[in-house]
Amino acid sequence: MKFHVLTLFPEAFSGPMQHSMLGRAQERGLISIQLTDIRDHAHDAHNTADDYQFGGGFGMVMKPEPIFEAVEDVLSSRSQEERRDIPVILMSPQGETLDQEMVEELAHEGELVLICGHYAGVDERVREHLITREVSIGDYVLTGGELAAMVLIDAVSRFIDGVVGSQENVLEDSITCGLLQHPLYTRPADFREFSVPEILRSGHHAEIERWRRLQSLRITLEKRPDLLSTADLTLNDLAFLQSLGWPPPESPE
Ligand code: ADE
Repeated sequence: MKFHVLTLFPEAFSGPMQHSMLGRAQERGLISIQLTDIRDHAHDAHNTADDYQFGGGFGMVMKPEPIFEAVEDVLSSRSQEERRDIPVILMSPQGETLDQEMVEELAHEGELVLICGHYAGVDERVREHLITREVSIGDYVLTGGELAAMVLIDAVSRFIDGVVGSQENVLEDSITCGLLQHPLYTRPADFREFSVPEILRSGHHAEIERWRRLQSLRITLEKRPDLLSTADLTLNDLAFLQSLGWPPPESPE
């Protein structure tokens, strides 16, 4: 999987993307993260990539020419047809909100171009005539799209074969399977006055699986009941949830 990142701050990526799983995934050639400094595509003596707003207003706007040229340069070795298939994504708080479904969908692309917005925003012509998609990582405003691009790269990379130890784990992840994760414990079994639940030390695998499932259901009901309506639930799951009062009685109009 290839990520082309267009940014005014390429150095922002050097720490977070070089360690742990993403660092190893790059060393092993499973993913590659190509950074392009948008300023390298500005043509004046000062490499100006932003300018004042037409019509007045607070904050600078990222100029269209360096962004268009940076994208064209990154895709220059591709035919017109190939270019049409490569998503060009603007990271911005105005985009569709990234969720696990979108992450999985993006992981099926061989290549992604990610444009990191900055300052007050990008010239609207980038939105209208260059990008194919606009993605937000949540309803809050960051100082720029760099952290958002890193979040997207991290989440998408987990779906690339070999990046995470076991692909089965990724597919059984909380959220991916519609429920939150059951509690996890490790040694020591007894820590201060807190002990690991006996069932997990019993060696009864079927019972352990059942306990974990019920814990997932309980935790999802407590923390994210909205997820239950789309989760894949068995009759046993439904009976358990009903015993906990789910679904709540409809409130009178
Ligand atoms: N840039 C600034 N805020 C953002 C957000 N929430 N998501 C994506 N890009 C952003």
